[in-house]
Amino acid sequence: MSVKRENFGFMPDGTEIYKYIIENDCETQVHVLTLGATLQSLIFADRAGKPVDVLLGFDTVEDYLTKSNYQGATVGPYCNRIAGAAIEIGGKHYELVPNEKNVTNLHSNGEFSFRPWKAIIPDADCVEMTYVSPDGEGGFPGETTVKVLFRLTRDNKLSIRYSGVSTRDTYLNFTNHAYFNLNGYASGDILGHTLRIDADRFTPVDELSIPRGDNLPVEGTPFDFRTAKPIGRDIEADHVQLKMTGGFDHNFCLSEGPVPLREIGEAVGDVSGIKMDIYTTLPGVQFYAGNFLQGKEGKGGVPMTKRTGFCLETQYFPDTPHRPDFPNCLFKAGEEYASETVYAFSHAEDAAVQ
Ligand code: BGC
Repeated sequence: MSVKRENFGFMPDGTEIYKYIIENDCETQVHVLTLGATLQSLIFADRAGKPVDVLLGFDTVEDYLTKSNYQGATVGPYCNRIAGAAIEIGGKHYELVPNEKNVTNLHSNGEFSFRPWKAIIPDADCVEMTYVSPDGEGGFPGETTVKVLFRLTRDNKLSIRYSGVSTRDTYLNFTNHAYFNLNGYASGDILGHTLRIDADRFTPVDELSIPRGDNLPVEGTPFDFRTAKPIGRDIEADHVQLKMTGGFDHNFCLSEGPVPLREIGEAVGDVSGIKMDIYTTLPGVQFYAGNFLQGKEGKGGVPMTKRTGFCLETQYFPDTPHRPDFPNCLFKAGEEYASETVYAFSHAEDAAVQ
């Protein structure tokens, strides 16, 4: 196991951005940037031994600052959407940035995702990134200190552990916004990937992608991924929820609250045979099929067009601050937020390898 550090460029104000490369004895590599604690590359060999980079991303700081749809970024203090870009805590009203359609707060307007983080190497298999968000940044109360520990195991598991604590009562909901393409980032769309999600219910949304308030059974709908199926099989089905969001872009309900780490699904690249098992302690996961990718050029100049990557953003449910019935993520001043998500890489037995 080893961790190396390289220069990745500079922020407009001159702050140096580093890339950390964690590598194990199988030559699996995880590349993490101090810009937004971003997963830039994850290189894993397919069954034929060919290294495949399974993450969408960019080659330069400038591209991350100007072209990003949150590729690989850490998102916080509140990932996903908050209706009306406002929250109430203890009778106090806080205005957030309405960065989506001028009404909704999406991904906290990128507060955590485009800042330089500090990094240390606690051990030969991991990197820890820290960011201190000043009180009131993006409208959120409290000075919030967040740490994200990226660890690569000898058996090709990437573990991401989050911890956070704020000086005021606040909502905390962190995720990583990796876009995966298990056939390789330059291989075209992800519609042939098979996906399983162990969720009986999903969260239907309105025209602004805000939860309607009911969590519907997946049974008998295109949202039933309880048995693995190709992502493309039902993505164009005539279902009002798919029309509303232009393809899968929904929270899947995994549990009533945080739980010990457990497996929640798997994805397989149909061409590479690369399999990714997903584990999390969190109660929800946003399955987003990359419907809004618009062809911006990413790593190696490869255009990231519609559905060339998919996200499985583990999370508390969207708009929890307005949904007392959803698993609660209001943390008291000084109370610790903690979660873990693991993406485990291996090879599927039955996938076709070309
Ligand atoms: C959202 C998508 C959005 C994407 C990039 C996802 O978490 O659900 O609607 O386009 O992030 O911001």
